[in-house]
Amino acid sequence: MSSVKIAPSILAADFAAFGTEIDAVEAQGADWIHVDVMDGHFVPNISFGPATCAAIRPHIKTVMDVHLMIAPVDPYIEEFAKAGADILTAHVEAGPHIHRTLQAIRGAGMKAGVALNPGTPAEAVAHVLDLCDLVCVMTVNPGFGGQKFIPMHDKIRKLHDMIGDRPIDIEIDGGVDPTTAGDLVKAGASVLVAGSAVFRGGSVSDPAPYGENIRAIRAAI
Ligand code: DX5
Ligand code: ZN
Repeated sequence: MSSVKIAPSILAADFAAFGTEIDAVEAQGADWIHVDVMDGHFVPNISFGPATCAAIRPHIKTVMDVHLMIAPVDPYIEEFAKAGADILTAHVEAGPHIHRTLQAIRGAGMKAGVALNPGTPAEAVAHVLDLCDLVCVMTVNPGFGGQKFIPMHDKIRKLHDMIGDRPIDIEIDGGVDPTTAGDLVKAGASVLVAGSAVFRGGSVSDPAPYGENIRAIRAAI
């Protein structure tokens, strides 16, 4: 399925060279760049915040897909808009007012995404789908790259049915590689995030493996 987008997560890139890494994966065929923001509170890890997003923005020629693993979300929406996010995704578990959060994200001029932890049912987003451009199904517990894939195909199929003909992407995040990609797309996924499966084997000085890795995922779908 050629319309499926592959979104390398820079969580697996060289943190001292984000610009070069982004240039490299885009040159090697990335469709979107997935940017994981973690606060050490909603998830047990800290990555980086809006200043880093703003700094890398000029390198992103495709789509800047920012995944917020933070709570609260609302006080930071404007800052991520200023940083240049195209899509801003908040977790449904991050607070009691996801409806307001999604309205605020669109109100700030971005596309709005909602993410679901593995333990959260598809139904949790049933009443906010009309406020969403993307639903992110976590197939690991968020916080770290390189974790073992947790099968969520039933949830993906259910969301695909719930979404119907609305123009909403289903994004899968966590443990995506050539062995898991095919079934995810069959279940209804349209965006595959991949961190370790894209960046493994390569480096700033040897980015060719990024292209081989992206093509291996594409070949599996
Ligand atoms: C996990 C992040 C993911 C992560 C995926 O909390 O949201 O985007 O980078 O990494 P891999 O593809 O290595 O599982
Ligand atoms: Zn992510």
